[in-house]
Amino acid sequence: MLNIILLGLPGAGKGTASAPIIDKYHVAHISTGDMFREAMAEETPVGLEAKKYMDAGDLVPDEVTAKLVEERLQKSDVLNGFILDGFPRTTVQAELLDQITERLNKPLSKVISIDVPEDILVERLSARYICKNCGATYNKISNPTKVAGVCDRCGGKEFYQREDDKPEVVKNRLKVNKEMNTPLIDFYDAKGLLTHVNGNQAPEKVFADIEAAWLTNIGGLFFSNLTKKCYNSQV
Ligand code: AP5
Ligand code: MG
Ligand code: ZN
Repeated sequence: MLNIILLGLPGAGKGTASAPIIDKYHVAHISTGDMFREAMAEETPVGLEAKKYMDAGDLVPDEVTAKLVEERLQKSDVLNGFILDGFPRTTVQAELLDQITERLNKPLSKVISIDVPEDILVERLSARYICKNCGATYNKISNPTKVAGVCDRCGGKEFYQREDDKPEVVKNRLKVNKEMNTPLIDFYDAKGLLTHVNGNQAPEKVFADIEAAWLTNIGGLFFSNLTKKCYNSQV
C-alpha cells in the first residue's frame, strides 16, 4: 500500500505530479482543494462553508477539512493507497491525520515536499488553465496542450481558469500557506518521513524524483525488516 502526502505551496505542482502517480500505481487522488471546489459547485453545506475562505485565499477550518478527508479515506478506491494533495496544511491537520490513519490502519509511506521558488509560483498560477471536461491542468507558459486548444487527455476543447488564481487572491494564498509550510515540513522531518524534491524542473523529472524517493524508502523498509528477521533468528 502506497500512502503518500504531497506538500508544496500553491502552484508547486502537487496536482500535476499526482496524475502520473495515479496512472502508474492506481492509488486514489485525494485533493482537498478539488473536493471543496466540487462541494462548492454542488452548493452542499461544506461547499458553502468552504467558499467563504477559498474566495479570499484563506484556509478552510482544520476540523471541517479533516472530517472530509476521514470520510474520503474510507471509500473503496483507497484500498491500493492514496495521494493526499493539499492536506495536511497545518500542524493541527497533521496531528488529526495521525489519529485518522491510526483509526483506519493506513500508515503513511512517505511525505514529499515539492519545492519551487516563489517568483515561479506566481508566474505559474497566473498562466494555469484547466480542462472543463476532465480536469487536466495546463500552463500557457510552461506546460501547454500538445495541440493548441485541445486537451491531451480527453480531447476536450473547453478550458477555464480558477477563481483563486486572480493576482490579489494568489498573493494571500501564498502568504497564508508559506506561514504554515515550515512547521509542517519540520513535523514530518522529525518523523523521518520527509523527502524534498525539486519542483522547478520538467514534470516528468519531478515524477521520477518522487518515485525514486519512495522506492528508496520501500527498499529501506524491506532491508530493515530483513535485518530484524536475521537478528531475530540469531537470538
Ligand atoms: P488547492 O486546490 O489545493 O490549491 P493550492 O494548494 O493553492 O495548490 P494548487 O492546486 O493551486 O497548485 P498545485 O500544487 O496543485 O499545482 P498544479 O499542479 O495545479 O486549494 C485551494 C484552496 O482550498 C486553498 O486555498 C484553501 O482555501 C482550500 N483548502 C484546500 N486544502 C485545504 C486544507 N488542507 N486546509 C484548509 N484549506 C484547504 O500546477 C500549477 C501550474 O503549474 C499549472 O499550470 C501546471 O501546468 C504548472 N506546472 C506544474 N508542474 C510544473 C512543472 N514541473 N514545470 C512547469 N510547470 C508546471
Ligand atoms: Mg492542485
Ligand atoms: Zn480533458
